Amino acid sequence: MLKKCIAVAAIFFAAAAVNAQEKPVYLDDSKPLNLRVEDALQRMTLEEKIAFIHAQSKFSAPGVPRLGIPEVWTTDGPHGIRPEVKWDEWDQAGWTNDRCTAFPALTCLAATWNKDMSSLYGKSIGEEARFRNKNILLGPGVNIYRSPLNGRNFEYMGEDPFLAGQMVVPYIKGVQSNGVAACVKHFALNNQETNRNTVNVVVDDRALYEIYLPAFKAAVQQGGAWSIMGSYNKYKGQQNCHNQYLLNDILKGEWGFEGVVVSDWGGVHDGMQPIFNGLDLEFGTWTDGLNTGNTNAYDNYYLAKPYLDKIKSGKVGTKELDDKVRRVLRLCFLTTLDRNRPYGSFATPEHALAGRKIAEEGIVLLQNNNNLLPIDLNKTKRIAVIGENAIKAMTVGGGSSSLKANYEVSPLDGIKNIVGNKAEVVYARGYVGDPNSNYNGVVFGADLTEKRPAEELLAEAVKLAKSADIVIFVGGLNKSPYQDDEGYDRKEYALPYNQDKVVSELAKANKNLVFVNISGNAVAMPWVKQVPAIVQGWYLGTETGNALARVLVGDVNPSGKLPFTFPVSLADNPAKAVGEFPGGDEVHYTEGIFVGYRYADKQNIKPLFPFGHGLSYTSFSYGKVSVDKSKVNADDKVTFSVKVKNTGKRDGAEIVQLYISDLKSSLTRPVKELKGFEKVYLKAGEEKTVSITVDKEALSYFDDKKHAWVAEPGDFEAIIGASSADVKNKVKFTLK
Ligand code: GLC
Repeated sequence: MLKKCIAVAAIFFAAAAVNAQEKPVYLDDSKPLNLRVEDALQRMTLEEKIAFIHAQSKFSAPGVPRLGIPEVWTTDGPHGIRPEVKWDEWDQAGWTNDRCTAFPALTCLAATWNKDMSSLYGKSIGEEARFRNKNILLGPGVNIYRSPLNGRNFEYMGEDPFLAGQMVVPYIKGVQSNGVAACVKHFALNNQETNRNTVNVVVDDRALYEIYLPAFKAAVQQGGAWSIMGSYNKYKGQQNCHNQYLLNDILKGEWGFEGVVVSDWGGVHDGMQPIFNGLDLEFGTWTDGLNTGNTNAYDNYYLAKPYLDKIKSGKVGTKELDDKVRRVLRLCFLTTLDRNRPYGSFATPEHALAGRKIAEEGIVLLQNNNNLLPIDLNKTKRIAVIGENAIKAMTVGGGSSSLKANYEVSPLDGIKNIVGNKAEVVYARGYVGDPNSNYNGVVFGADLTEKRPAEELLAEAVKLAKSADIVIFVGGLNKSPYQDDEGYDRKEYALPYNQDKVVSELAKANKNLVFVNISGNAVAMPWVKQVPAIVQGWYLGTETGNALARVLVGDVNPSGKLPFTFPVSLADNPAKAVGEFPGGDEVHYTEGIFVGYRYADKQNIKPLFPFGHGLSYTSFSYGKVSVDKSKVNADDKVTFSVKVKNTGKRDGAEIVQLYISDLKSSLTRPVKELKGFEKVYLKAGEEKTVSITVDKEALSYFDDKKHAWVAEPGDFEAIIGASSADVKNKVKFTLK
C-alpha cells in the first residue's frame, strides 16, 4: 500500500513540475502564428522535417509525433467525404461509420449563381470533413470548362473565370471555418482527362491570365485558401506539381500564397524539381517509377530519403526544406492544433437539407414551351417516368469524387414521394446504359441488370408514354468511363446509349414530354423542337429525387442558370473549332481567350442554350440601367443600377448579369465579359432595384507584353443581361 502511495505521489509531483514549466511557444495559442511556426521548426530534427512533407499512407502524412503535432489527414472530394480506404490501398476499408452526405456536383453549385449557397455548401461539407478528423479537403475544383467532352467538368464551376472565382470563395471560407483546409485544384490548365499525366498545355499568356488563372487567384487572394493542389499535366514542359512558372513565379511570387502546395496523387516525377519548384507536400507518388506505387514505399518518395540523402551529401541545402515545413506547420496550426475549432457533424438531416436547397437553386429550366411545367397534380392522372437515370445511383462513380452516401433518393422515388396518391406514376427503363453502380469497391443503388433487348425496352416505353398525361424522360450521362468520369474524356457530344432515338419516339407517342438531363456536361439535343420542356438536372447528390420532383411539380420555382454554353454541335465549340482537343503529347489552346460565350459572341454563333440561360415559372421585366457616373477615374468604383420586376403570378428569383464591353482597345478583347451578377428574390408583382458595383479590375485586360493588367482609358459599355445572349439593355460610360 505504501509503495502505491509513493508512486502516486511521484507522478503527481512530476506532473506539477511539468506544468510549472513555461508552455512551449508552438503550443501556446496566445502567441502569433508565425512565432509558433518558427518555434516548432527549430525543435524539429532533419529527419522529422523530411518525414513531415510527404505521405506515410494513401491519404495521410505523419505530423511530428514527438512534438505532439498530429498527423495530416487528407480526404476527397469536392462533393462529400470519401469512404475510408485501407492504409496503403485504394480498396475500401469497409468501415461502417463513413456513409456521408453526398452534396450536389459543383456545376450545380455554380448554376445557383448564389454565393450564400456556396457558403452553405462549404460550411456543411467542412463540418463533415471535420467530424471525420480530416484536415485537408481535396477540393473544390475550378478548372475552366473548355470543352464539353472533358470527363471531369462536373467537378468544376463552368466556363467563366469570374463566375467560378466568385462562387469558389465562399465555399473555401465555409470549409475553413471548421478548421479544415480547402485544397483548390487542379492548378493549373487541367481541362481534359486524355493524357492528363503528361500532356503539355500550350497557351498564350493572355488566355492563361484572363481565363485559366483568375478562379485560382480569387481562391488564394479572396478565399484565403490554405492549400492548392498541383495538376497532373505540364505547362512549359514542366510537370505542374513542381512547376517553376506556376508555383513559384505566379502562385507564391505574384499572388503571395503562404499555404501548402499539395501534389496530385502521382503527380511528382522528378528528384530535383520538387525541391526547388514550389512543391510542399508529396502524395501518391508512383514509386515503381512507372505508374503505380510499390506497397508502403513512402521512403522512396522524391521528398523522402532521396531528398534526405541530397542534404546529407551537401548536394542541396535546407532552405527550401524549411520553407516547405513552415507552410505545412502553418496549416497544422490553422487546423489540427487549433483547439478552438468546431467539432463538425456528419450525415445529418441538416446537411441533407442543405444539399437539397443547393440542388433546388441549381436546377436549370432550359425550355418550357406551352408552360408544360410545372405539372398540375390536380389535372394530371397518370405520369410516365422513362429512362435509366430515373433509377440509377449517381453519387457513386466518376472517379475520386465518388462517395458512399448514407442514402440517395432517385428521381423516380422523388416523383413518387411527392405525387403520392394524387396521380399514378408508372415507369419504364426505355434503354440500358450502364447497369453497374459501383466504384472502387463501393456498390450502391438499385440492381440495374436488364436482359430484355433494346427494341422491347423501347416498345414498352412508347406504350407507356401513350397511356400517360405527361412523360418525364430522365436521361443524360452518368459516372461511367467516357461519360462524366475522371480519367476519361467523352468520345462524342451526342447522348450515349441511343437515347436520341428513344426521345424522338417518345415525342411522337406523347407531345407532353419533359426531358431531364442528368449530367455535368452539355449534350447535343437534335430533338429540341419536339420536346416542349427541358430541365438541366445535374448530379444532385443525396436528395436528388426530392429536389427534382419539387421543381417539376412547382413546389420550387427553378432559378438556376447555366455556368457553361450548350453549343448546338461540337463544331461550335472553340476548343474543337479553333483549338485542339484533346491533342497528343501537347495540346494547343489556339482559341486563346475566346472560350465559351466569348467565342459565340465573336463568331455570332447561336448556341442551343447560352451561358447564363435559365427560365422560371414566373416572368421578369427589366427597367433601364443607369450608371452613377458617366466619366470614371481609374481609381473610382462605378455602380450600375436596374429595376427588375416579377411580372408573373408566383414568387421567383432572377439572376441579373452584368457584362462589360470595352468598345475600343489596343488588344483584341471579347465582345463582353461577365463582371458582376446578383440573384434577386421577388414576390409576384414585386419590383426591386439591383445595383452592381465594379472597379477598374473589371475594365482591365492582361497585357502580355507589359505582363500587367491594364484598364485602358476610353469608352465602355455596361450590358445587363438575363443571360449572355438575352441582353436587356446597356449604358455607355468613359474611363478617363
Ligand atoms: C486523383 C485526382 C485528385 C484527387 C486525388 C486523390 O487522381 O486527380 O482530384 O483528389 O487523386 O484521390
